[in-house]
Amino acid sequence: MASYDGDCFLVPGPVRMNQACLDAMATPTITARGPEFRDVMAELNSGLRYAFNIAPSKPEKKNQSWAGDDDYKVVVVSGSGTAAMEMVIANRFRSNDLVLVPTNGKFGERVAEICSRFCNVKHIKYEWGRAFDLFELEQQLERKCYEALLICHNETSSGITQDAPALAEMCQRHNTPFILDGITSIGGLPVHLEQWGAEAGVVGAQKCTAGPSGIAAIAINSHFIERSKAIREQGECSPTYYLDLISALKKGDDDQTPWTPAINLAMGWSKALNTLKEETLEGRWNRCEMLSKGVQNLFSHLGFELLADPFQRSSTVTAIMYPEGVDDTWRSDLKNKYHTQVIGAQDHLKGKMFRVGSMGETTVEEMVEGCKRMISCFKDHGVELPDVEVESFF
Ligand SMILES: Cc1ncc(COP(=O)(O)O)c(C=O)c1O
Repeated sequence: MASYDGDCFLVPGPVRMNQACLDAMATPTITARGPEFRDVMAELNSGLRYAFNIAPSKPEKKNQSWAGDDDYKVVVVSGSGTAAMEMVIANRFRSNDLVLVPTNGKFGERVAEICSRFCNVKHIKYEWGRAFDLFELEQQLERKCYEALLICHNETSSGITQDAPALAEMCQRHNTPFILDGITSIGGLPVHLEQWGAEAGVVGAQKCTAGPSGIAAIAINSHFIERSKAIREQGECSPTYYLDLISALKKGDDDQTPWTPAINLAMGWSKALNTLKEETLEGRWNRCEMLSKGVQNLFSHLGFELLADPFQRSSTVTAIMYPEGVDDTWRSDLKNKYHTQVIGAQDHLKGKMFRVGSMGETTVEEMVEGCKRMISCFKDHGVELPDVEVESFF
């Protein structure tokens, strides 16, 4: 394995961007309404359809680049993943609708919170990192009172990936629309919107697709679109303006956006998506899985406790508990002395855990070197660890 001597940036997004993406963002300004931007949008839409793992489209303007030979359309949102999630929720539900949101971490809780601003929510809170109780969720769906089931597919705060195929199957059986925050799953681990019958999925550029922060996208099917339009026509929609889906749909047909788009971010993201295409989606899923398995097996072998249930550990982020006596000063030392960044924990786990990202374009060499530095830094903090050959875990 080649050695790596640069900074190690192993956070679960935003991830580092490649040179082609950075160069594209340095392109001199173009107008938002001219043919050049339509070219950018067409390429971006087509790349997004690939990342969403839905039917392809031609990366050419005036060719319905946002649509494919299936039931989904992609809509680019100038804003981070949270804006895209809000767009989905605000446009899809009426204030008296009831939605089911099971959660096991911070971002699922955020999905529930966003929903609570627009409709009624049955929020079933599981412990962070524990798998959902599918039996309990089945019983809830049997009540036939839910307008949709929404999940955070890959829970970045606790390192667990939900059992989406099982949840999708349940939703299909109970005829309940299924919506996913796929912000750290789409592009990084298997997502099959069509097979799962999902109405909507959301991706943020800065995560698995290694694009810039501040731009996101949604993939929505025709049922989602029809429902959103019907709610609007019946005068039952929540107030939206910037995130109004109907305005976005009007302009999307013409490779445009309703408001001034994040032009240079769109340019960068579409180049990052080209890199994903070159690697292939399966290639990226496999690399992310290999990296995360390596981290999980290594730290388990060293005696660390991982937060997430073993059978549902994420391929894009691993949550590792600090050993007794270690806190976030370890992370500061890792950054300052070892030029290696991982991320800390949120809310009640702050200072008790760290998270290692394995998304985007991270190489095995960087991950191996980063893990070696983490181990050295733990030893500096007085943690006794056996000698291991880190490479052998990857
Ligand atoms: C799973 C998940 N959902 C939502 C978000 C929020 O996305 P953003 O910060 O792009 O608004 C994040 C960010 O880390 C995330 O990991």
